This record gives sequence, C-alpha cells and structure tokens, in this order.
Amino acid sequence: DLHTSIDKFQFNNVFMNASGVRCYTKDELDELAQSDAGTLVTKSATQTKRLGNPSPRYAPLELGSINSMGLPNEGLEYYLDYALDFQKAHPEKPIFLSVAGLSMEENLAMAHTIENSDFNGLVEFNLSCPNVPGKPQTGYDFDRTQEVLTNLFDFFTKPAGVKLPPYFDLAQFDQMATILNQFPLKFVNSINSLGNGLMIDPETDTALIKPKGGFGGIGGAYAKPIALANVRAFAQRLDPKIQLIGTGGVTNGRDAYDLILAGASLVQVGTLLQEEGTVAFTRLTRELRAVMQTKGYNAISDFRGQLKVL
Ligand code: DHB
Repeated sequence: DLHTSIDKFQFNNVFMNASGVRCYTKDELDELAQSDAGTLVTKSATQTKRLGNPSPRYAPLELGSINSMGLPNEGLEYYLDYALDFQKAHPEKPIFLSVAGLSMEENLAMAHTIENSDFNGLVEFNLSCPNVPGKPQTGYDFDRTQEVLTNLFDFFTKPAGVKLPPYFDLAQFDQMATILNQFPLKFVNSINSLGNGLMIDPETDTALIKPKGGFGGIGGAYAKPIALANVRAFAQRLDPKIQLIGTGGVTNGRDAYDLILAGASLVQVGTLLQEEGTVAFTRLTRELRAVMQTKGYNAISDFRGQLKVL
C-alpha cells in the first residue's frame, strides 16, 4: 500500500510528476491523472501566457537532463480552470497548482486570484525557477523569501507549500528552516534542478542548449544525493506540521524509497517522466512495492523518516 497524505489531503500513491514535466497542456494533465501517479502538479504558471526561451531548451544527458525552458506556460487562468474542472469531476483526487511569479507583485496577484477562487487543492509556490534571464530565483535570497512569505500569508489561507532550490551548506538549511517555520506551510518541496550547469556536445564543441549561452538546470541522477540531503536536512529542522515532498534523481523504486527514508511524504519525478512517459509510474510503483516487501514494510508510514546513521 503506497497510501500517503499531506495535511488533510489523501493520496493512493506517493508518486507524482515534478512541475514542468508533461503538465503543460490539459491533455498532458489528463494523461497524468489517468496514470498510476497518486496526484499531479500543473506547470508553473505566471499571470499571463509565456512562450519561454528559444529552442533547443531541453536535452537528455547520460545521467539526467539539462533545461532552460524559461517558464513557458499557458497562464494562471488556464491551469486554474483545469484544476476547478478537475476537482468537480474527481472530488476524491486533490491536485497541486504551481505558481511562479517573476516578481513579488506577480506572486501576490496570483495568490489573490487563487484565494478568491473555489480551488480546494494544494498550491505550490515555486521560489526556485533558475531559467529566466535577469530574474534571480527567490530561494537563494533569504531576506526576499522572508518578505514574500510574510506578504503572502498576510492574506492567503489555502493549503500551500514552497518549491525550493538545492542548498549545499548546513548553515543555509538552518537559516531557511528558521524562516519557513514562521509560516503555516503544509509542505516544502526539495529540490528544483541544480541551477546553471553546462553541458557540451563533444562533436561540435557547442553548448547543448541555446538559452543563456548553454546554462541550464540539471536534473536526473546527478541530483539524487543532493535531493536526499535537502529532504533530510529540512526534515530535521522543520516543524513536524510542515511535510516534505522529495524531488530529484528518481530513476527506480529504491531512489524513491531513499527519499522517503529521508523524510518525504510524496515523491516527484521529473527527468525520468520526461524521458519515459507516464508508464514510468507503473514501473516505479512496482519497484517501490518490491523494496518494501523485501524490508517487511506494509505502509509508507512504516519507514518514512527512518533513515539510520552511524
Ligand atoms: C522552469 C524551470 C524550473 O526549474 C522551474 O522551477 C520553473 C520553470 C522553466 O525553465 O520553465
């Protein structure tokens, strides 16, 4: 049984897509909804539609992927419409709405729109998009993060969490957790891509992707130990009311098991889902069940957060 929950929301499977992957159009979202995933999240929305960066803007790599999509999306109204229709048709299947404003004002405006809507799922405030030229991500600016969350929770009352970039110094986890613990967050999702990597085509000595001179977010197996560390570090520091979503480097059931050991209540899949399609959820589900059976666990709650250390 892979049942899990965040706050009052129940899910029959721990797996879901990572925002950005196969969640751009209503058709893609429907395919996720019909897959073995326990829930889904929509493509990070801005207030109005964006076309994003020039192509090529995604490339698969030997151990993952690089992308600099630049936040192409259909605009908040499109995804909010989808979510409102979806919750009517599937009242027992809560979903996540991702928003990624390029300024504090845009984030607050979108939050007001959602607050005043009938949306009854969870909102993921993405503080970690690394790919828009000239727009530093909020998650690496602690004062800015404090300010955004203060202004947001001044009026926002719906269940919400934040998507964060990877941190690498333990002092950063202390500082960020101290900020996050001041707010009624339901979840923290770690991690977004490893910002601004670079990969080169050896045949042509050319950067693999076009935007930003080839710089882009790295996902996939490259991210796994960093994702594990981020989930674990926040699980050790956050108020237990703030749950963890683990994202990064899942290519098999054991990777998901590890994120859950580190403290994750849901597991998001990015690069693998992009490369394999929604059938990836079927294999991951089977493999996670097999690991649990070998270990003698019947439920996610039997081992969530139970990482042993020496
Ligand atoms: C994009 C990439 C991200 O990692 C993110 O969090 C949001 C948007 C993008 O390039 O579209």
